[in-house]
Amino acid sequence: MSAQQPGQVIPTLSWIGGIDGHLRLIDQTRLPTEFVEIECHDVPAVWEAIRKLKVRGAPAIGIAAAFGMCLGIQNTVDADEAAFFARLQATADQLATSRPTAVNLFWAIARMKDFATKLRGKFPPREMAKALLGEATAIWEEDRAMCRAIGRHGVELLADVRGVLTHCNAGALVTVDYGTALAPIFAAHEAGKRLHVYVDETRPLLQGARLTAWELQQRGVEATLICDSMAAQVMREGRVQAVIVGADRIAANGDTANKIGTYSVALLAAAHNIPFYVAAPSSTFDLSIESGEQIPIEQRQAEEITHGFGRQTAPTGIDVYNPAFDVTPAKLIHAIICEHGVIRPVDREQISSMLGRKLEKQSV
Ligand code: MRU
Repeated sequence: MSAQQPGQVIPTLSWIGGIDGHLRLIDQTRLPTEFVEIECHDVPAVWEAIRKLKVRGAPAIGIAAAFGMCLGIQNTVDADEAAFFARLQATADQLATSRPTAVNLFWAIARMKDFATKLRGKFPPREMAKALLGEATAIWEEDRAMCRAIGRHGVELLADVRGVLTHCNAGALVTVDYGTALAPIFAAHEAGKRLHVYVDETRPLLQGARLTAWELQQRGVEATLICDSMAAQVMREGRVQAVIVGADRIAANGDTANKIGTYSVALLAAAHNIPFYVAAPSSTFDLSIESGEQIPIEQRQAEEITHGFGRQTAPTGIDVYNPAFDVTPAKLIHAIICEHGVIRPVDREQISSMLGRKLEKQSV
């Protein structure tokens, strides 16, 4: 176990060593009471870390999967090319089953596979493994730069804002180290602006209470924790002038999947005339789907609701519905902040022109 010292930035996840190395990540299920890093030495460990939300949030899931691909091929670096590629495909197939909604997972797996395919026949497996580790590391490094860029672009939207509300956790813990929705807040704070963040606790798994509140405290940003059901009252009292959330998948028309409860917050923001912003890197856009109707929504176990964090809080045998995400229609989103700039208004044309390309379907 290691403890995070004030002011010390420990990346959410990082690769340790060379092609025979491993993935180290902060176990987010232990926060905020314990700061523990775990080591993943094989694909099942990465799969389980993603599935059990030890590593979570769209960009971090993608980066974990990219390094998971490097773990998957470790035993075939001295095998023949066919065995190497068979193992790469099997790893891709396995990791793709870990969680369904965040498109960054499929984006990262596809990027790693495409990269390997381009090298096929040109290098022996050992050299390809080195190159693949380089590609995963590039994804890791690009993530850091993208988050800073989102912070720079988003800060202008907070110019006249004192109170801002966020839902779930889209801070440093969902990326290598700076976050998406929290990046403009961190950038504003670092520039000396006084912001007050209202943090939805985010039932049922409390990512807001456990993770966002912890991150804001660590960085010295003023924050107040509220139950999800208090957001309307906080808005009615005039405490917030903006809402910023992250995203797990954004369709071509701007419809956005994010943590369950986000759609309610967007409706409340519209009812109170408060701008609602989404912050996400380009790897979270899925331009192969027309609208949010086509976004797969993860269904999770009933126990997350009936036995949250171990204690039974509902009668035995009660029927439970537990979708982990919902879709906010583009018409409720004032702007999407990505690493290239601010997309506004949120529609198909603006999205495609900002991203400058049509993304291919992420087939693994
Ligand atoms: O189930 P989780 O904790 O992985 O859900 C995470 C979220 O919904 C985040 O808001 C989303 O991934 C955006 S973070 C860039």
